[in-house]
Amino acid sequence: MLLRNRGFLKPFEPSRPDSYFTEEWQATRLARSETGRAFGIIEGESGELVGRLELSAITPPPALHANLGYWVDQGHNGRGYATEAVAAALAQAFDPGGLRLHRIQAAVMPRNDRSIRVLEKSGLRREGFAERYLEIGGRWEDHWIYAITAEEWPGAVTSSGGRDRIGGGFPKSRGQR
Ligand SMILES: CC(C)(COP(=O)(O)OP(=O)(O)OC[C@H]1O[C@@H](n2cnc3c(N)ncnc32)[C@H](O)[C@@H]1OP(=O)(O)O)[C@@H](O)C(=O)NCCC(=O)NCCS
Repeated sequence: MLLRNRGFLKPFEPSRPDSYFTEEWQATRLARSETGRAFGIIEGESGELVGRLELSAITPPPALHANLGYWVDQGHNGRGYATEAVAAALAQAFDPGGLRLHRIQAAVMPRNDRSIRVLEKSGLRREGFAERYLEIGGRWEDHWIYAITAEEWPGAVTSSGGRDRIGGGFPKSRGQR
């Protein structure tokens, strides 16, 4: 799938060495790590892998934030899969049974209208403009910064709901909870 989408993804991604497109490299990237979680986006009906989502740069307290990145197979665009995947990732990030993070951030190029739509549909708010933020295809590209914190997540339970979800700790895999 990655090979099939190499041309499609090129305008939105950093320059990649050929080794990036090998099974070995991808297996390493897919492995669960201390600072990131990678997820496949699976189509319900067919069970086919149709995309990828990643929470990266997971940062310990007092930050408890992570960066969100994703892509969907070109042939499966426009079916709501990215939006569904982001909703699932936010639940994983904020839910007390998940990573218990406080803030999820995404950076998107101003020309990437589809991804901007996905982020805004998903409840992330535009926070600011970062000049020359990421290297994309060999150029330092400006990005909009979007974010959502646990308080804003629709699944959040307010203090009146009896559960305090803020400042709760760090992923269990860090052995801190
Ligand atoms: C961005 C991307 C993940 C979207 O995936 P997707 O599964 O098609 O997204 P969804 O179907 O959930 O939502 C797409 C939304 O964008 C809208 N859209 C499509 N083309 C658009 C355009 N040219 N301008 C504005 N909105 C557009 C769709 O109508 C839809 O919104 P709607 O539900 O209100 O109709 C996919 O195009 C992709 O992988 N792009 C390349 C990699 C990338 O940009 N990754 C993100 C980097 S920040």
